[in-house]
Amino acid sequence: MDIAFGVVVHGGAGTPETLSDGCKEACRVAFDILGAGGQALEAVVEACRIMEDDGRFNAGSGSVLRLDGKTVEMDAGVMDSAGKLGMVMNMRGFRNPVKAARAAAVERHEKICALLKEGRLGELNPLWGDIDSSFFEGLSCDTVGAVAVDQRGVFAAAASTGGATPMLVGRVGDTPMIGCGFYAGPAGAFAATGIGEEIIRRMLAKEVYDRLARGDDLLSACRGGTGLFPENIPVGLIGISPGGYAASANRPMAHHAMVREH
Ligand code: GLY
Repeated sequence: MDIAFGVVVHGGAGTPETLSDGCKEACRVAFDILGAGGQALEAVVEACRIMEDDGRFNAGSGSVLRLDGKTVEMDAGVMDSAGKLGMVMNMRGFRNPVKAARAAAVERHEKICALLKEGRLGELNPLWGDIDSSFFEGLSCDTVGAVAVDQRGVFAAAASTGGATPMLVGRVGDTPMIGCGFYAGPAGAFAATGIGEEIIRRMLAKEVYDRLARGDDLLSACRGGTGLFPENIPVGLIGISPGGYAASANRPMAHHAMVREH
């Protein structure tokens, strides 16, 4: 496969297939951005924004509550192979942390504060109350993520999460940490999902990126990465490179990909 542009989206390690419609919709919108000549960074941010607003994924409006039973804190990270990098941690009261991470990648900090003051990063809109509680039985969603390559050949990755369950107020996982929950460089882009502390320990996204850059094929790199984890630790990865896209997880992981070949 020789990719002209494309995007891969996941809904988190542990997400059932029934949520793949949310991944498909996010993928479709991101693919249209790429098809119109848009940047990979914009495409992955928009894909994650849609999933943050979906309410069924553990990110944005669907974020899980912290151990105190009332606090929502969210993390997000974005990166592209052109040098943009933005990370936000323990965000409270925002609708779309991935947009705040993007702002951190492209704006000066004072500008972000102004955006916040003007309400242009949106207000948190928890949707849990609108969803029948039986929906959550046996369901343990994790992070959402997206990786893409645009028509200029720039790679990008984005990840957003409400964290893990159970989780202390103030705890931070892999999602906003470069090289752990996400990584993008000239060889490709990766987004990870799973137990943050375990992913950080292995610097998973950079680990699989390095494997790819050293010559592993993309699927082997992803499988090698998830293979570093024992079975009782949920983990998943999506990746995209000039030669294709891949996903690997040791749990069900709703995901979707759309690519255009040369
Ligand atoms: N992977 C999300 C977290 O552990 O916070």
